[in-house]
Amino acid sequence: MEPSLFDRLGEPMIHQLVDRFYDRVFVHPLIGRLFKTDKEVIKEKQRLFLTQFFGGPSLYSNQYGHPKLRARHLPHPITNDDAEAWLSCMSAAITSLPIEESLKDEVFKRFVPTALFMVNTDQ
Ligand code: HEM
Repeated sequence: MEPSLFDRLGEPMIHQLVDRFYDRVFVHPLIGRLFKTDKEVIKEKQRLFLTQFFGGPSLYSNQYGHPKLRARHLPHPITNDDAEAWLSCMSAAITSLPIEESLKDEVFKRFVPTALFMVNTDQ
């Protein structure tokens, strides 16, 4: 079996990805205002979530139950532009990591359908 993205990235790289991603998200002119929880709390949740999203241990589910990501995002109105902005922050964070280009591509592509699936309003 091919090693998972979790195995290929490793925990320190996931940690860096989450840090660099939220540093961009929290100051983003379009989507920054959506994030009201403490930055460190959100980062920790996202580290747990991405560990399992990338094929590692189910750390998020063990602590918070089934992710039901779309349902958890429903309280936050998310437009297509918001999803594009989220992906652009993720793309920049991934690009900044010291990993192979092909791995960067693979990691970014893993996010696209999930981000578009979070869109829950037209305006
Ligand atoms: C499409 C654009 C997206 C927007 C605008 C967005 C926005 C948000 C917001 C506003 C929160 C709550 C933050 C708070 O508590 O203050 C949140 C939580 C979260 N988001 Fe997103 N999100 C998006 C996409 C995604 C994607 C693609 C993923 C995963 C691949 C993701 C994973 C999470 C997780 C794990 C949480 C924490 C859920 C919890 O409360 O346990 N989000 N997101």
